[in-house]
Amino acid sequence: MPDLDFVQQDFQRRLMEIPPQGTGLSVDVYSPDLFELVNKLRERGLKPDYLEVFKATTTALTTVRQTMPDIPLAYHGEGLWITQPDVQTSPFFQQDVGEMVTQLNSLQSLWLNHECAMKQMAGYSFGTYVPPLYTPLSAEVVADNIATVQQAMDRQGRRANGTAPLFLLEMPPLTYFSAGTIPIPHFFRLITELVPCGLVLDIGHLWTVYRYTAACRRTSLERFVGEFLDEFPLERVVEIHIAGLSCHESVGGPQGGGGLPEWIDAHAAPIPSILYTMLEQVLAHPNLCSLRAVALEVDTKPIEMIVEEYAEAVRRFAILVQQTMAKGAAIEQPVKLTSRPISAQEPVCQSDRQRLRDDYARYAQIISGQGPIVGPEWQETAAEATGLAQYCTSYVPHEILHWGGDLGEMFPQTCRALAEQGICLTAFVPFWFRSPRPLTQSYDFFLLKIERFLEFVTECAPDALVCVQEECDGLRLAYAQANEVGNPMMEMERTK
Ligand SMILES: [Fe+2]
Repeated sequence: MPDLDFVQQDFQRRLMEIPPQGTGLSVDVYSPDLFELVNKLRERGLKPDYLEVFKATTTALTTVRQTMPDIPLAYHGEGLWITQPDVQTSPFFQQDVGEMVTQLNSLQSLWLNHECAMKQMAGYSFGTYVPPLYTPLSAEVVADNIATVQQAMDRQGRRANGTAPLFLLEMPPLTYFSAGTIPIPHFFRLITELVPCGLVLDIGHLWTVYRYTAACRRTSLERFVGEFLDEFPLERVVEIHIAGLSCHESVGGPQGGGGLPEWIDAHAAPIPSILYTMLEQVLAHPNLCSLRAVALEVDTKPIEMIVEEYAEAVRRFAILVQQTMAKGAAIEQPVKLTSRPISAQEPVCQSDRQRLRDDYARYAQIISGQGPIVGPEWQETAAEATGLAQYCTSYVPHEILHWGGDLGEMFPQTCRALAEQGICLTAFVPFWFRSPRPLTQSYDFFLLKIERFLEFVTECAPDALVCVQEECDGLRLAYAQANEVGNPMMEMERTK
């Protein structure tokens, strides 16, 4: 059994090292240009209380830190697939953790925010976040992996005053479906009982949980939020995110079942007013006692819209956020704790990890349309499978063919040659998911597309091999050069 008291006290001790930040922005260095954004805000007399910066090159993050000495910075990581039972044995895990700690240090960030989601599982790769299996074993594995990452931060990320950044786990969005055997709030409670991490509650993600579970047919949004917050470990929420929602371009009409729009997480889109109503409900909840920051997540959004939305959010919420943070600080007690290194309470055994890996292999096959919808964690999803069907038949093909690099634009000559031979590009989707693949590098969807497309053409149109090889070489070279100067040519839209 976990030592609940110790875990909670360890969290309190770490939390007390994080001063209240206020109302800020979660941003990308390049999209839109961060320096231009901050200048435009300054022209309007606005200065964010803090900026949470998404993973970029270490050089770019260092430049941000040097250029904005007066703004506190936090870090939004990416690419540590802590939901995965085999992540710690990945050949790139140590390297990815090392890079993450370097970037935390270069920003002087007080926390690492990381999504409780993945883009790779059991040898299958996706372009955008996929939620974890909501099961008790999955929660144990996440906690175990977080403990390992927190250990690395404690060792390598410790600052002059002896404190280290805190791992914050963000509840991910649902993109049309969810799979699991336990309610989502229960899943996060299990994690927080095992490991002293903080949490990030994203209001738009919470809306998608209402929309893509049975809750939207059972009850009103307000009642759902109330019930959810009562169950969720709200006392661990350190940061709140709020961002845009919109219908995906691969999906036809704006309306779905129950008259609710089929919105998904979309940072470029405006923040709908219903999310501000939900934010008010969250801020008013008595269990929200560890809050340090609220950020509008605005990567990929036009600068003018960001300035307008930030001005409005400050006008409506800045004081309320200050009051909520102060309310929590008033009840915090100094924690006496004999320092002991963090560790998983009971490391997950190898056979359980293997069992979960098999569950994730089945997960990847189901959501890519390659396998039947079977297994206890899919019972509820299978009963109402329209959301899953939408993901399989529209969202995933769009992701593989167009998102993060459109195949027609990346490989114009090869695509022409394939068309002349009557080979349809859509055949690339089942090829991509045909079998699990060993990892050959840290996750990079653009480079993965190049690698797989070369294999696809080698198999289905060997006559076009020279042509596709030339296009692959050109793309890899341009991508490496763009990354070196710290300005990736591919402005990768993302969901966080
Ligand atoms: Fe978020």
